[in-house]
Amino acid sequence: MRKKIVAGNWKMNLGLEEAKALVSELKVKIDHQKDSLQSHGQKLPEVVLFPAFPYITRVVDIFTTYEGVSVGAQNCHHEEEGAFTGEVAARMIKTVGASHVIIGHSERRSQFREDDQLLAAKTKQALKNGLTPVFCCGEVLPDRENNQHFQVVADQLQKGLFWMDDQQLAHAVIAYEPVWAIGTGKTASPGQAQEMHAYIRKLIADSYNQELADKMSILYGGSCNAKNAADLFSNPDVDGGLIGGASLKPADFFEIILALVNKG
Ligand code: PGA
Repeated sequence: MRKKIVAGNWKMNLGLEEAKALVSELKVKIDHQKDSLQSHGQKLPEVVLFPAFPYITRVVDIFTTYEGVSVGAQNCHHEEEGAFTGEVAARMIKTVGASHVIIGHSERRSQFREDDQLLAAKTKQALKNGLTPVFCCGEVLPDRENNQHFQVVADQLQKGLFWMDDQQLAHAVIAYEPVWAIGTGKTASPGQAQEMHAYIRKLIADSYNQELADKMSILYGGSCNAKNAADLFSNPDVDGGLIGGASLKPADFFEIILALVNKG
């Protein structure tokens, strides 16, 4: 069965005190809800928090006894180690207790010129060091306007991720994030999200096999919020969300988590 996941990408936001406040509020909400869900035979989806590097260990420590809440990094370097001032290796992320890493976010593709080849190397580092890569793909607006969005996403996946064999790919999570929807308040419609997610799943089935395609979690990202999450998550091929802005507000983020519980 594929996992339902809500991930919070904090990006380069929050001072330490704000981060602590966010996490403690979230913890209270999770504690409060866990028991009542359990009594209804339900449970929270997997929650993955992606703080900035300096906060990773703190967040790991806070949730260390929480089954179903894990922590990841927003990026890793594509080499194992070495003279790369200012960079962070996948191995380091793993050794401080994080379990996931975001790779190929559109902000890194565009602002830091990360190309498919580099992203493939990063996913290699992630897997080699036991981290789950959350691999992002998504088209810019002109791609969609020119009806190229399927091709663009297929290309990104084939070059950045599909070098893996099926056992390796089973460890990855895919996040479809249309670039025109990230941080813009413009969300993909539930229909647009479902259409692309179904396309990605078919791509996995065609490139690998149906069993693997059915097993993989494909998250939606791009202005997903407390109001639209339930509609987006109601789609059969949307297994959760990668949440940016709304993950900085504990009440909103928690509502998004609950929206996924209710998906059933
Ligand atoms: P957003 O960001 O929810 O603020 O649009 C999502 C993301 O960049 O992962």
